Amino acid sequence: MNALAAPLALLAELTHRCPLRCPYCSNPLKLTPASGELRTDDWGRVFGEAAALGCMQVHLSGGEPAVRRDLDALVAAAAEAGLYTNLITSGVLLDAARLQALRDRGLEHVQLSFQDSTPEIADVVAGLEGAHAKKLAVARDIREAGLALTTNFVVHRRNIQHVEAMLDLGMSLGAERIEIASVQYHGWAIPNRASLMPTRAQLADATRVVEAARRTLEGIVIDFVVTDYYAQRPKACMGGWGRQFLVVSPAGFVLPCHAAETIPDLKFDNVRERALADIWRHSHAFNLFRGTAWMKEPCRSCERAEIDWGGCRCQALAVGGDPALADPACALSPAHGALLAMADADSTGNQRRFIYRQLRAGKSGEQSVAIEDAEAPA
Ligand code: SF4
Ligand code: FES
Repeated sequence: MNALAAPLALLAELTHRCPLRCPYCSNPLKLTPASGELRTDDWGRVFGEAAALGCMQVHLSGGEPAVRRDLDALVAAAAEAGLYTNLITSGVLLDAARLQALRDRGLEHVQLSFQDSTPEIADVVAGLEGAHAKKLAVARDIREAGLALTTNFVVHRRNIQHVEAMLDLGMSLGAERIEIASVQYHGWAIPNRASLMPTRAQLADATRVVEAARRTLEGIVIDFVVTDYYAQRPKACMGGWGRQFLVVSPAGFVLPCHAAETIPDLKFDNVRERALADIWRHSHAFNLFRGTAWMKEPCRSCERAEIDWGGCRCQALAVGGDPALADPACALSPAHGALLAMADADSTGNQRRFIYRQLRAGKSGEQSVAIEDAEAPA
């Protein structure tokens, strides 16, 4: 067996709290309340342990990481540990002064999410009026603070026809990288799949637009993450289970991917109780689907086994009922035909309502989730 390499990056989910309510949020359905989040000093220790393990980067994420009042201290701790610091944010809680303060504490890069190129659709998808205008202002503040900027546009049936306008917007805002990312069907995206799934024709049009832009635009990186329901082969989800990334949840659990807690019977270790390096190397959850020994057919004898690592374990569970099956996005999976039929039915149906997540304080002071419907924009 090859020696285990160090992870490339730590995805630090600082909180599940967020002022937006995107109907494709990848956070779990059961959320960690603020009282259960790791504290500043816990995160500082985690950043030090990640750097010692060999991580090069930390992605400070959520929920919305800027709801943490100690975000500047967290950025400083990550930078002092020697990690390249990237803030993944909706931007709506940031302003010029806070961005300059974060830069002064060591922040290097911001990935700013957009829900569309138009305020009409963006604000409905975000579930927050005025969100899009605020993001445009924050993008300019990010560049004026001298921070590197990636703009991230999440696309689905309601907005994928705007890909060209999204690329124009990203360029006009001075982004070095533009991500056009199709919704991935985890978390809240599963109950909203019938309102979000693009048609095959929409995806083909968007692909043509992105390919043309890549040929003509210089000095800018365009990432395009396609809807893998329509793919022939799956993506190497997270670069392979337990190979490149560590995710630490708001409560301190260490996960191979953000949706791993959906897999029943997996026990996850917590940074409050066990060192990060020990978890990376020896935890049951990381080793269960690491490498290829766990694979069944058709993955076991497939030439792509060490290329895509069997795709996504969480999707194999969600669609096929077993996390050790080939990802149903793979045309060699027995479940692939059913997946395609589901995608075609969802994308051509009339479902237009979004189910939004909403945080509410329960009697115990903890947050719970309520559901609210709204008509999706045309
Ligand atoms: Fe990947 Fe398994 Fe499909 Fe081969 S059979 S392409 S390893 S998912
Ligand atoms: Fe969990 Fe893909 S999201 S392995």
